[in-house]
Amino acid sequence: MASIKLLLANDKVEGIRYYEAYRKHGGYASLEKALKSYTPDEVTEEVKKSGLRGRGGAGFPTGMKWSFLAKPEGIPRYLVCNADESEPGTFKDRYLMEYIPHLLVEGMIISSYALGANTSYIYIRGEYAWIVEILEQAIAEAKANGWLGKNILGKGFDHEIYVQRGAGAYICGEETALLESLEGKRGNPRIKPPFPAVKGLWGCPTVVNNVETIAAVVPIINNGGEEYAKIGVGRSTGTKLLSACGNINKPGIYEIDMTISVEEFIFSDEYCGGIPNGKRLKACIPGGSSVPILPANLLLKTAKGDTRYMNYESL
Ligand SMILES: Cc1cc2nc3c(=O)[nH]c(=O)nc-3n(C[C@H](O)[C@H](O)[C@H](O)COP(=O)(O)O)c2cc1C
Repeated sequence: MASIKLLLANDKVEGIRYYEAYRKHGGYASLEKALKSYTPDEVTEEVKKSGLRGRGGAGFPTGMKWSFLAKPEGIPRYLVCNADESEPGTFKDRYLMEYIPHLLVEGMIISSYALGANTSYIYIRGEYAWIVEILEQAIAEAKANGWLGKNILGKGFDHEIYVQRGAGAYICGEETALLESLEGKRGNPRIKPPFPAVKGLWGCPTVVNNVETIAAVVPIINNGGEEYAKIGVGRSTGTKLLSACGNINKPGIYEIDMTISVEEFIFSDEYCGGIPNGKRLKACIPGGSSVPILPANLLLKTAKGDTRYMNYESL
């Protein structure tokens, strides 16, 4: 189970960055299914069943967050994708956007359909300048093929996606500072409440989700929420992308199911492949560098048999 691939199933396929290859490998089938077979509330229900939790750090249940979105008549709602990824040592969102941009675009459209949002934004870290072009090309391709614009698939749903580049401030990853910045102001966090679900972008109901969270909606709709929830353990369902860097043999991006231990992740050849020259592990940082350092005595299997797993509860 540990090597199951939902987000990175096709990342090595030649040309997957472009519409033709993405579509040939099953791309946009999930969006088609969502629009043809589900009402917006049913899409939210599938996401709830999947147990998906936000991949931006706090791990808040995504379906629940969506169901909190206020829906007053005549006021627009927005989906905002948090692509600020400024935490030192993390680069999973960058990888997804750079190599499989259509996965994010497809996830944005499905999620926006569920939320009743006709406009969505990808707020991207300023230093990821070259990815803006990649995303804009993917958006243009999706539009040229009828997945964006007016009356998508004749289902009466209109949608447009815009990419906005930040100016390179770490705090703009915090969702309310991000919204201030997106509105063209200095990126100072807002006092909560009100939460963005009630008063977000331009004072309208808004959902802010991480890149990986939104991308995960694609396999959830493709396979069904219940199937997704069978992967992983406890309340850590589905797969998770990990950016691995530092003094390891195989730095890179890995997709795991959340049943593997930290020790297995660092030492197994399938993942990081251990430490160069067989050196002893002293510690690791099991998240971005805002996360406390996890010393070896707390993560290696102890005499008591305690194991630290790569999931929300254990870490
Ligand atoms: C200082 C700070 C920086 C943050 N940076 C990011 C970030 O770069 N990317 C991100 O997705 N979430 C970041 N977050 C979390 C967001 O505020 C928000 O919880 C998240 O985007 C929600 O998406 P999710 O539910 O899909 O995880 C940050 C939070 C704080 C407090």
